[in-house]
Formats: sequence, structure tokens, C-alpha cells
Amino acid sequence: MRGRQVRIAVVGGGPVGAASAAFLAMRGHRVTLVERSVERRERFASGSVPFREPRLSEVWARLVLLENLDVVEHLQEAGFVDQVWVAVGTPSLPDGRADLGQVESVIKDVSAMPRGIVVMRSTVPPGTGRRLSDLLRSCGWDYVSHPEFLREGFALEDMEKPTRLLIGADDTSVARTVAGLYEGMFDIVSVVMTSVATAELAKLASNAFLATRISFINEMSLLADAVAADVCEVARIMGLDPRIGPDFLEAGIGYGGSCFPKDTRALGSLGEDLGVPLTLLRSVIEVNRAMPRALLRRVRAALGGTYAGGKVAVWGLAFKAGTDDLRESPSVTVIESLLAEGATVSVHDPAVGNTPWANVERVERPELALDGSSALFVLTNWTDYQRPELASHAVQMEPPRVVADGRNGLDAGVWTRNGCLYLGMGHHSAIATPMRV
Ligand code: UGA
Repeated sequence: MRGRQVRIAVVGGGPVGAASAAFLAMRGHRVTLVERSVERRERFASGSVPFREPRLSEVWARLVLLENLDVVEHLQEAGFVDQVWVAVGTPSLPDGRADLGQVESVIKDVSAMPRGIVVMRSTVPPGTGRRLSDLLRSCGWDYVSHPEFLREGFALEDMEKPTRLLIGADDTSVARTVAGLYEGMFDIVSVVMTSVATAELAKLASNAFLATRISFINEMSLLADAVAADVCEVARIMGLDPRIGPDFLEAGIGYGGSCFPKDTRALGSLGEDLGVPLTLLRSVIEVNRAMPRALLRRVRAALGGTYAGGKVAVWGLAFKAGTDDLRESPSVTVIESLLAEGATVSVHDPAVGNTPWANVERVERPELALDGSSALFVLTNWTDYQRPELASHAVQMEPPRVVADGRNGLDAGVWTRNGCLYLGMGHHSAIATPMRV
């Protein structure tokens, strides 16, 4: 390893905490992961990761064996450490504000320990760091805001190959100490050192901007349906402009997960508290709420005005492909509406384990959900659902065989040829193939 070994406690064993801990341990530092759930702690300690993060799972067992990574319940058990990385949850309160209860409880524990640096990885509203650092300073602790840009399913890859390293601190020498942990990576990545409040806002603004792109293209998908244009082609054409770029323009049933929904709400609430109403952001959130309802409405109309008494198949529960995470997934809204309207629901997902619905049938293969269903909702973009041969099972469905492709991943023509009424998100079966010269 380069430089001296640093002793670090990472608090919170979610994807961010676990990937941060693994990355730091791989770089030769002495790392203790602090996780309060006994179930998760036992999994980590035995060398496995309690959620779906393929590369992280690969390296975790080796790191535990090498003994430069251990897992404890309380921060105090970590002993003397140079840094405490905080990676606990900041879920939404009912009014949309971020619940900082877990963050504050870690800060309380830290303030009773000998001096060091607190490195905030949790996403907190701008202004939080100023308040916490004032508090910590009196106990001899420095404070650094070090927001993460990790995607679920790629958490360790994104630690190893970050797009940028963002470090917010009042004191540049403290910022440099934290940046030093990444020494050797500076030639491949931009390191941005800034104020704590700028770092905090840059994190939330990044997520809010990506959510804005998604809601924008989703609104265009509604318009595309109304004028028989294809939003996938629209997005491709827009993306060819380097000022726009192609990413995060996939129209669909809406964004979900543990980050975009909560972070957009937290930023919106902060704006209200500070007398700066974030009108655009409010609309982004509203469009996202409206997308599942819009698709449910279209399918209901195609079924003759009611779901009651019918059977509906749902392919995909996870908020995005590659994860087993159901948090704020549009599938939850769709399934709960279907059940409330009296439909029988049969679901398939290759990764999500337990679901909250006792009265929903789970099937092992996607085609089994189609038996006797008059409609199919596709809500996660698992590539497995894109296999054209699956459309041959449409014969098992009841007319009118509505296929609601909430992720525009299916081949519309194939499903239409198999007797289905294909409803995409601004995406059609009867579109002439655009001519490419
Ligand atoms: C997101 C950000 O991408 C990360 O940079 C950030 O660090 C992370 O939140 C966080 O704050 O911790 P993640 O929640 O893993 O990461 O999910 P994304 O891959 O960004 O997807 C979010 C949602 O947007 C998914 O439901 C996905 O299906 C949807 N999406 C994405 C679209 O509907 N269209 C797109 O074009 C792209």
C-alpha cells in the first residue's frame, strides 16, 4: 500500500458502507464495519454480502479472511480510529424531509471518542454539515463531506472507477488527508475539493438532475403516444447532440430505488423551508408519481374499463435490473392498485426475494405468469424478458392480451404478431423503421 495504514470505522452496512469498507480494506487500510442488524452482521462476518452486489460479494470473503476487515455492532468496539465514515440511511420522513436520526446518533457516539475525522458518505441536506461540524469541533473532531456517486449493483466498481471524487471541508489539510486514501487514482479521476455546503448540494443536484431527465423523457413519451411518434427514437436523436448526451433518457414507468425518490423529496422540502420553491423539481416528482397511474389507466381502458375479476401478470419487481431491491419500485404501486381493483396477480422476478403480498402468486418462470392473464405488465428491464420466444406463450393469455411494456424493452412487433395489443411507453409496434443512410 501507498502511505501509512489508516484505521477506519465505517458505520452502516448498506451498499455504500459495505463497498466503501471493502475498497478501503483492499487498499490496505485497517477497516471495521459497524452494522447494528444482527442478521446482516452475521452474513458479513461469515464472508458474504447480504444484498445483491456481484463484484462486492466476490471480494468480501477474501477480505474477511485476510483479517483487515472486521464487523462489530457498536462504534465503540472499533477502538481507536483515525476516521469514521458515516454511511447510514437518511430515509424520508412523512413530509418528505430527510430523517437524520441515524446520522445524529452516530455523531453522538463519535463525540465521546478520541479525536479524528468524520467523513460523511450519507446523503444529507445542505446545511447539515455546518451544524454537525460545529458540534464536532468542540470534541476535537474534523468534518468532511464526501458524497458518494455509487449505483446499486455496481457499488464497488464505482468506488474503484469513480467519475469524480468530491470532498467538501472547511480545512484543506483535512480534505487532503481524506483524498490521500485515493492516492494513485488522481490521474484517472477529477478530484474536486470544495466547501461542505457545495459538496452536499452537488450530490443532491446530481441525483435531481438525472431524475429530471427521466421525468422529461417520460412526459415526452406521453406526447409521443398522442401523436404516434416513437420516444425511443426521439431520445436517440436528442442524445446525438453532445450537449444533451444519450444517458438517462430511457422512457418508462418511472424511477424508483432508495435514492432518487427520497433525494428529490428532501431537496424539494429544503427549498420550501428556505423560501426557495423548487418548481421544476416538484414537477419532476409529480410526473414520476403519474407514470404508473397513466399506464394502469391505459390498460384498464383496453380491458373494457375494469380489472375486477381478471388475472394480470407482472414481470419484474425490482426498481431496476441487476438489483433485488424493491424500495420505491413502480411495481409496488402497480401491484397494489391491481389488488385494490380486484385483480388476481401473478408475478415473476429473477432476483427479488420476499415480497409484502401474501395474496400474490410468485412463479419460477416468466411464461407461467401468463396462464389465463388478460394483461401483462413488464416493470423491470431484465434482459431475460426481451427473449422473442417468450411471445409465443401469449396464446396462454385470455383476450384481449394486453402487453403493457413499462420499460420499452420488448420487441413490439413480435408481441403484436403473436396476437397481443402492445402498449409501450411512447413506443409502438406499427412504427416504420427509420431509414439510416
Ligand atoms: C442513483 C445514481 O445513479 C447514483 O449516481 C447515486 O450515487 C445513487 O443513486 C445514490 O444516490 O446513492 P441507483 O439508485 O442505483 O443510483 O439507480 P440508477 O441506476 O440511477 O436508476 C434509478 C432509477 O431510474 C431506476 O428506477 C431506473 O430504472 C430509472 N431510470 C434510469 C429510468 O427510468 N430511465 C433511465 O434512462 C435511467
